[in-house]
Amino acid sequence: MTAFPVAKVVVLGSINMDLVAHVPRIPRPGETLTGRSLSYVPGGKGANQAVAAARLGAHVQMLGRLGDDPFAATLRHGLQAAGVNTQQVLVTPDTASGLAWIGVADDGQNSITVIPGANGSVTPNDVSLWEPQIAAGEVLLMQLEVPPSTVAAAIAVARQHGVRVVLDAAPSPTEPLPAACWQVDLLSPNQTEAEQLLGRPVNSLMEAQAAAQQLLERGPQHVVIKLGELGAWLASREGLSQHIPPCPVSPVDTTAAGDAFTAAMSVEWALGQSLTDACRWACAAGALATLTSGAQPSMPTREQVVELIAWTTTKS
Ligand code: RIB
Repeated sequence: MTAFPVAKVVVLGSINMDLVAHVPRIPRPGETLTGRSLSYVPGGKGANQAVAAARLGAHVQMLGRLGDDPFAATLRHGLQAAGVNTQQVLVTPDTASGLAWIGVADDGQNSITVIPGANGSVTPNDVSLWEPQIAAGEVLLMQLEVPPSTVAAAIAVARQHGVRVVLDAAPSPTEPLPAACWQVDLLSPNQTEAEQLLGRPVNSLMEAQAAAQQLLERGPQHVVIKLGELGAWLASREGLSQHIPPCPVSPVDTTAAGDAFTAAMSVEWALGQSLTDACRWACAAGALATLTSGAQPSMPTREQVVELIAWTTTKS
């Protein structure tokens, strides 16, 4: 019997409790709206990507920090239930776990405010302790909800050990990124983050193509810009510049769709697929994540992605 290949993914990133308010639309500044319900859902860009990678069949090691509040146990159990190894998730005393305040509107759009809590205490010193775990991975997957100096330190460790680095440039950096953060194998912002990184609009496929090229010039080997309902734009230093079409769905909640995308792309790339094929998978995973409310509950399984790709292929 042939063993099915399994990707070894290390995720260094945030773990949040999401406080999700369902509202008719995203309120304007100064406006008060009446919402329908409030739910507590495990989230955090790092943890979401860890759960997504595990559901897609990868062996996943989570690196990060929780606080010592009542949410911490729920968040750790959520990761474990998805099959994520949490042995190296450390606890910061006298600190709350990360929190995100999320408004989800009737059209599926969202707005998110993050209070970093323990995520802000993940240090370059932690990265030194985690060197064996990083070295054992095939891909190190990170986002920007832990301090950039920590991300830079982890990139250095991964490079030392020949581990591929995928950086999801989310949320939009408010300060210029440290130079080391550009030296990654794959940089993957969404449309807004690409605009923030470059200081120019990215509203069309043509603008996405130009933006991807400009981002490549800053250091990464490959760039994938997530464009939501327009799909994605993939560009690489080897000369690739390609539109990846979206999987058309009717979204219920777009929260963490980008996380499902980045995780799926990283898992498939680690399994040896071309980046083009990995991005097709990613578009399907991202689309599926919009069909269910909440961050971690919406992360799709490998079977669901296979099914959606097959369905989309027969329709085209
Ligand atoms: O990408 C979605 C995530 O962003 C949410 O789960 C929230 O916690 C914030 O980190």
